[in-house]
Amino acid sequence: MCGIVGYIGPRQAPDVVLQGLKRLEYRGYDSAGIAALDDNGEIVVRRDVGKLANLTAQLQAAPLDGRIAIGHTRWATHGAPTQRNAHPHLGMNGRVVLVHNGIVENYKELRDELTAEGVRFNSDTDTEVIVQLAERYMAGGLSLDEAARRTLRHLEGASAIVLMSADEPDRLVCARIGNAGGITLGLGDDEMFIASDIPAILEYTRRMVFLESRQMAVISTDNFTVMDLDGRAVSPKIHTISWDPVSAVKGEFKHFMQKEIFDQPRAIIDTLGGRIDHENSSIHLPEMNLTPELIERIDKLFIVACGTSYYAGLVGKYMIETLARLPVEVEYASEFRYYNPIVDGRTAVLSITQSGETADTLAASEQARSQEATLWSIVNAIGSQSMRLADGSIPMHAGPEIGVASTKAFTTSLVDLYLLACVLGNLRGHISPAELRRHAADLTRLPTLVGRALEKDAEYQALAERFHKARNFLFLGRGINYPIALEGALKLKEISYIHAEGYPAGEMKHGPIALIDETMPVLAIVTKNALYDKMISQVQQARARGGIVIALATEGDEQIRQEADHVIYVPDTPPLLSPVVNVIPLQLLSYHIAVRRGADVDQPRNLAKSVTVE
Ligand code: AGP
Repeated sequence: MCGIVGYIGPRQAPDVVLQGLKRLEYRGYDSAGIAALDDNGEIVVRRDVGKLANLTAQLQAAPLDGRIAIGHTRWATHGAPTQRNAHPHLGMNGRVVLVHNGIVENYKELRDELTAEGVRFNSDTDTEVIVQLAERYMAGGLSLDEAARRTLRHLEGASAIVLMSADEPDRLVCARIGNAGGITLGLGDDEMFIASDIPAILEYTRRMVFLESRQMAVISTDNFTVMDLDGRAVSPKIHTISWDPVSAVKGEFKHFMQKEIFDQPRAIIDTLGGRIDHENSSIHLPEMNLTPELIERIDKLFIVACGTSYYAGLVGKYMIETLARLPVEVEYASEFRYYNPIVDGRTAVLSITQSGETADTLAASEQARSQEATLWSIVNAIGSQSMRLADGSIPMHAGPEIGVASTKAFTTSLVDLYLLACVLGNLRGHISPAELRRHAADLTRLPTLVGRALEKDAEYQALAERFHKARNFLFLGRGINYPIALEGALKLKEISYIHAEGYPAGEMKHGPIALIDETMPVLAIVTKNALYDKMISQVQQARARGGIVIALATEGDEQIRQEADHVIYVPDTPPLLSPVVNVIPLQLLSYHIAVRRGADVDQPRNLAKSVTVE
């Protein structure tokens, strides 16, 4: 997934674009570049491989001026991350320049056709065919927007683009086809912005328009028009974003991930906001549009997601099957879309996605739609494709999550799942008003319990000091905490590059216990619940084989001190909500280990914040 920014207005456009790219660097950081129209009306491009800091240094040495510019941070798909493949890309006559997010699946045949017509290519990317086509259409007399429309008709695959031309210096043209990451218009006073994501332009304006797939927009300093790819005008909704710009900056924290971990009590309060009516002991999810007819009809729920969001779905299964007695299947979105799942008009398919733009998750949702399913989504990014696609949604309200490793989006999606389980349970007649009151009270206490887990940060730092040189790590859990073992392993491996595995503790004796020795730290989730004694037995088996065990235990549990080498205590939490609290130490342990290993916590190698390509 790449980051795109465009600007037209009275400010120094290259500065606005560079600042926006800094806010988007988490989307991809293989290379970066900016193109501006200078005072002579010529397109000037600066670009470099690697982090944005390299481009920033170039711009300090050779500044760019201009009132209109576009920029890009790249997560390479086609063409190695080199200077020659960095965006922006110019047409061969230097009259049109482009930034692009997505994949042109038929770029080889388009490149062959254009080469046969005499076009000289300057990169190995799929992207370049777009700008060469657009420039040729403009050379044939078409306007920039018409050239863009014609060009898009040739493209197969999902793309989001911004075009700028020296022959039309008072406008930018942007468009999106398919799910290649969003295109957001920021509406200023005598200035306009384009960005892949809200944080890039939130400091300038809160008024935003989100392009749908197969829409394009033409922006000038004081106007914008949106149309479909046949040129028919569209009247889009203008959203007012309530996020505060501060939430999109690090503040006193060292990393976005650290800030977002400590942001979780507030985020959960925002997630609960307006949804619990204590007076009437009821829980409201108005955006879900749950009618009695729909509740009557739905007899199965499929949860589809990727990565951390998939692990949230595994926790959600326990919550919803326990409280609502609705059968739940949880599947990786990348698997769901290819194995012909049993889905029909009586199935609800819930996607869980922080970005709302993950290609596999969107494709799974669209497949479910084609099989008559009801689509629900738990999503953080307001205005994202996943939110717009769904028949009903539960926004996470976590605020922007910048760190590539997902933390507050994970815990707020667990809260959304619990809210959904309570509402479904009540509507399906499995939860009485008195029980609903208790669930509401449990949820209300959650931010405080999470806050208490965060207070133990010094302990997690000490453990990180002890274990940051480990080469492998094993995370064990059972029941509703088995997904937390998986999530703890993912957090550790994706930011510290230590190989880590999450495993259902009961499975250890069927093979993995062969891994245990004094070089294999084992983190076991042994908080108080019906499986406590089973977990104690697993801890004993691991230690009997020389394993070093770190136990995550409930405050007040003295027995565990005899069983484990290290103990992390968390506050006593109702079992169905315990994953929200139990994940906190795992997030911070991974964070501190990664910091001690000198890893790039917010932008781990090879990763991007949202994977908008297959
Ligand atoms: C989580 O730490 C990872 N960054 C990754 O697994 C992420 O959860 C996954 O790509 C899904 O992203 P989404 O929630 O935006 O769909």
